[in-house]
Parts: sequence; structure tokens; C-alpha cells
Amino acid sequence: MEQRDNGPGADQAPVTKRGEIIAVAGAKGGIGRTVMTVNLAAALAKNTRLQVAVLDGDLQFGDVGLAMDLQPTFTIKDVAEGIATMDGFTLSSYLSRHGSGVRVMAAPERPEQADLVTPHAVERIALMLAAQHDYLLVDTGVGLQEQTLQFIEKADQVFVLTTLEMVAIKNTKLMLETMEMLGLRDKVQVVVNRATMESVIKAGDVPDILGVETAYYVPNDFGMVSQSLNLGIPFVLNQTKSELAKAVYKMAEQLIARREISHFKPKPQSLLQSLLQKTKGPASFF
Ligand SMILES: Nc1ncnc2c1ncn2[C@@H]1O[C@H](COP(=O)(O)OP(=O)(O)OP(=O)(O)O)[C@@H](O)[C@H]1O
Ligand SMILES: [Mg+2]
Repeated sequence: MEQRDNGPGADQAPVTKRGEIIAVAGAKGGIGRTVMTVNLAAALAKNTRLQVAVLDGDLQFGDVGLAMDLQPTFTIKDVAEGIATMDGFTLSSYLSRHGSGVRVMAAPERPEQADLVTPHAVERIALMLAAQHDYLLVDTGVGLQEQTLQFIEKADQVFVLTTLEMVAIKNTKLMLETMEMLGLRDKVQVVVNRATMESVIKAGDVPDILGVETAYYVPNDFGMVSQSLNLGIPFVLNQTKSELAKAVYKMAEQLIARREISHFKPKPQSLLQSLLQKTKGPASFF
């Protein structure tokens, strides 16, 4: 039987990163990470020429496939098994393509298979996908387990989801504090999901409570979200006029704008250029 190397041993070319990695995280289960990931991915891909991929980073109980009505032929477990010899071209054939254009690296079929996917393999797969796409969105597992931290470390932007529930707010605060201690806080953006739900905590108070300057607000619409999950159609695709979809499109637009700004930002000056400026041009050298 063919022996596949799942470890770091083999000679592997470094992967050059092209796209942005966006991690969607949350301190509590059932907070909306999967809903946000699939809708943000579809919103980024819709009406743009952007190449968007989703990695289901919830390796035990990932349900991105279900939320997008995909029946993946392959999962990340299959890729991990062959990671030592995997190149970008082969990796593409392991992705499931959604009608929106989003390509999905599905989670293993069964929870016990999660252990077969090593952290080294996950890192390499994420970097390869980021090299081939403009955006790689990662739906992470709950909290800050090692695997999720790995994604967060690699990410360019991390959306930390919370709801207005006391437990969610308390755990989100702890999560943000931990990320601060790890030096990861700069890339975090808080998203208040279900922000219009009845609660003693008011959505507008969340930034103050969590000690952040701004937050995104995504309205509460249980009917639309459950219908979307049951049908496996992201609501940004078929409920485009809804407040829910508008909130997600706003996030997508800001991501795209941020990326364009960083692309068109003038390149930092070389040391020689700065030196020439300080000395008022080349003439003063002589
Ligand atoms: N904006 C919203 N309005 C109403 N309900 C929502 C909203 N976002 C998510 N939900 C509901 O919350 C539930 C959990 O959502 P989701 O599966 O995306 O969370 P999760 O954080 O990925 O959960 P898990 O811990 O199971 O991975 C879903 O059943 C969905 O109906
Ligand atoms: Mg989920």
C-alpha cells in the first residue's frame, strides 16, 4: 500500500502567499461562525472576479459543506494524507465548487478523522489555498484551541463573533484579552451577531464592554438564517435585499476596500531613496 507522509519531513517548496486569510472565530459554540463564513465568502465572490476559498477549520464537526449544500468528494483528511507531495494544482482537485464560485476545503466526514490531519498539514494547506485565491476564509473551531490559534496567527484579519448573551460577552472578553496577551489583537474585528435580539445588554454598549473601538452589527433573523441553513443556500445569494445580507455585504465591501488600499499603497522607500531625500538629491553627494 502506498505510504503517505503526513509530517514535515519531505522537501517542500515554500508557498508564496497571494491572498488574504480571514479567520472567523468565536468564544462560544453556536454563535454564528459558520453562517458568517459561508455568507461572507459568497458575498466576496458574487459579482466580483475574486477567487474565494473556504477552509472548514472545525475539523471535528465542520458543517460548511451542509451550509452550502455541497457533497464533497474529498475532505481535508485526503489532502493531509498526501501533503508531502501535494502541489497547488493537485490541491485544487480536492476542493468542492459551490455555484457562487466559492471553493471549499471540506472538514473530515467523521470527528475521529480530525486527528489524522496534523497541524503541519493544516498550515501548509491554508498557505497553498491562500496562494491560489484572493481570499481564504477559515471557519474555526470554538474558542482558542491550538488549531484555531494556528489559523489566527496566520490570518490577516480575524472576525471574532459574539452575541448579546451574557455568557457570550463574558467569554468574548476573555478571548480578546488572551489574544492581546499573545500579540494578536491588532487584526481582530468584533462582530456582534444577532445584534437586534432582545437582551439586557444593548448592541451599542458592546464595544465599550469589550474595550474595542468599533464593531460590525449583524441583525437577528432566525427564520431567514435557519431557512438558509436548511436549504444550504447562503442568504446573501437569494435574500440580497434583506438587512442581514446588507450587513454581510458591508463587511465584504470593507474587506475589498482595505485590500485595494494596501495594494495601491506606495511601496516603502528604499534606504537609498530616503538617504537621497534627506541629503536633498543626488547632487549633494558630490
Ligand atoms: N444573524 C442571525 N440571526 C438569527 N439566527 C442566527 C444568526 N446567525 C446564526 N444564527 C443561528 O445560530 C445558530 C448557530 O449558527 P452557526 O452554526 O453559524 O454557529 P457556529 O458558531 O458555527 O456553531 P458551532 O459551534 O455549532 O460550529 C444557527 O442555527 C443559526 O440559525
Ligand atoms: Mg460552525
